Amino acid sequence: MNIKSICCLGAGYVGGPTMAMIAAKCPHIQVTVADFNVQRIAAWNSDSLPVYEPGLDEVVRSARGRNLHFSTDIKAAIASADLIFVSVGTPTKSYGIGAGRAADLRYIESAARLIAEVSQGHKIIVEKSTIPVKTATAIKSILAANSRADATFDVLSNPEFLAEGTAVEDLSAPDRILIGGETTPGGADAVEALVSVYANWVPRERIITTNLWSSELSKLVANAFLAQRISSINSISALCEATGADVDEVSRAIGTDSRIGPKFLKASVGFGGSCFQKDILNLVYLCESFGLPEVAAYWIKVIELNDWQKSRFVEKIVRTLYNTVTGKRIAILGFAFKKDTNDTRESASIAVCRDLLRERAQIAVYDPRVDADSIRQDLVEAGVDPELINTHLQICDSPYTACQGAHALAALTEWEEFRNLDLIRLYDGMLKPAFVFDGRAILPTAALKAHGFEVFVIGKGV
Ligand code: UDX
Ligand code: ADP
Repeated sequence: MNIKSICCLGAGYVGGPTMAMIAAKCPHIQVTVADFNVQRIAAWNSDSLPVYEPGLDEVVRSARGRNLHFSTDIKAAIASADLIFVSVGTPTKSYGIGAGRAADLRYIESAARLIAEVSQGHKIIVEKSTIPVKTATAIKSILAANSRADATFDVLSNPEFLAEGTAVEDLSAPDRILIGGETTPGGADAVEALVSVYANWVPRERIITTNLWSSELSKLVANAFLAQRISSINSISALCEATGADVDEVSRAIGTDSRIGPKFLKASVGFGGSCFQKDILNLVYLCESFGLPEVAAYWIKVIELNDWQKSRFVEKIVRTLYNTVTGKRIAILGFAFKKDTNDTRESASIAVCRDLLRERAQIAVYDPRVDADSIRQDLVEAGVDPELINTHLQICDSPYTACQGAHALAALTEWEEFRNLDLIRLYDGMLKPAFVFDGRAILPTAALKAHGFEVFVIGKGV
């Protein structure tokens, strides 16, 4: 099957950049990204994209209007596509059976129903969203039960491994592309059709094909392993602080062992992002559902350690500031869950700000990319009293404004610009002693100390 037209349901952090890359690399394929969120689609069609990713503007500009389109006409986009990516959100369920663990598949289900309603002829449906194992089967059964007589479908799993902040690099030179399909002749043809799309720019040996369930599970397992490395090194960061060791030195030493490798060993105030926690919770739910409580208990520890890492950081701040932060101004540098993104989902900053606000601190947040509304909304969703947000939260347009009159500053996202702050200006603006809590080990510790700051760095003993 020769793919000429692709549609993607969901113009989010995954769907938007991924389709932009496919369009840029495959000028012979028409790509339409469809979403019912009118504002989001308008932003994708404007000069101010809804997703901040280094290099993404150029990729979008190279293809938009030529073979890359953003539209709210979802039905038309489905109708004209040979291949449909489903890249809608799959948040953790907040209610009912599996609450707090299982993925909420209502967007997936409604996307499947819409595809069934509109489709004629043969179409390939590709799961791009992270979803629990065996969701493809559910999609297949919804399609089979609701489609027109002349419509047929193949369902594939093609999990996305891009990391935010490096999406363009990850998409243009991926470590691997994973495609799962049914082991029937039709399934094999569908897999081959998708392989041939990626083969326009990805070397064939990097395109792994497998069965549906292995593909679905691999996505969860990849994220669980990555998150586990961070929780592992974060657990050691606490031991380093207690013993006087330096966690970065430990990471360097163990990372040179080729069996361990150097990546994902950076201790931090805690991992965030839309995937790690959600996918581990999914894995845990799966294990529980399949009668494997020991496996579930093993993986849930990765999340518990991450939560503990965030709360012990707050405790460190409170204890250091003479056991009270009530009424004290604390500058928060960084709200995004990592650098080079405007995404804040599950960011460690949310938990740290929430807990400090509950201690009645005055919080002054600066982030170079996150807008003020997102910060307020995240804190409301995290359960902070809106009145407290009105009276105790200030959102600042520079690190210096945030630090003006502050007892302490806490660096929570590793933005490059935080490496080169004007320390004299910061110090002059702050109350004394001027405390620094570096949750990313990113600030220049020696220079800070030389300028008179009292410095605590995650994973560094005194
Ligand atoms: C992750 C996976 O990397 C990606 O393959 C998958 O498709 C989606 O989930 P993402 O969440 O975008 O990507 O970012 P990632 O770079 O993995 O970082 C996740 C979190 O871990 C961030 O909060 C980051 O700051 C933190 N992190 C990462 C650390 O604290 N230490 C590290 O060494 C690496
Ligand atoms: P991700 O990080 O996985 O890309 P996002 O939440 O950023 O997730 O994006 C998911 C997008 O999917 C949202 O913009 C949402 O409006 C959209 N969406 C949800 N259901 C549908 C649907 N049935 N058809 C089209 N778009 C949908």
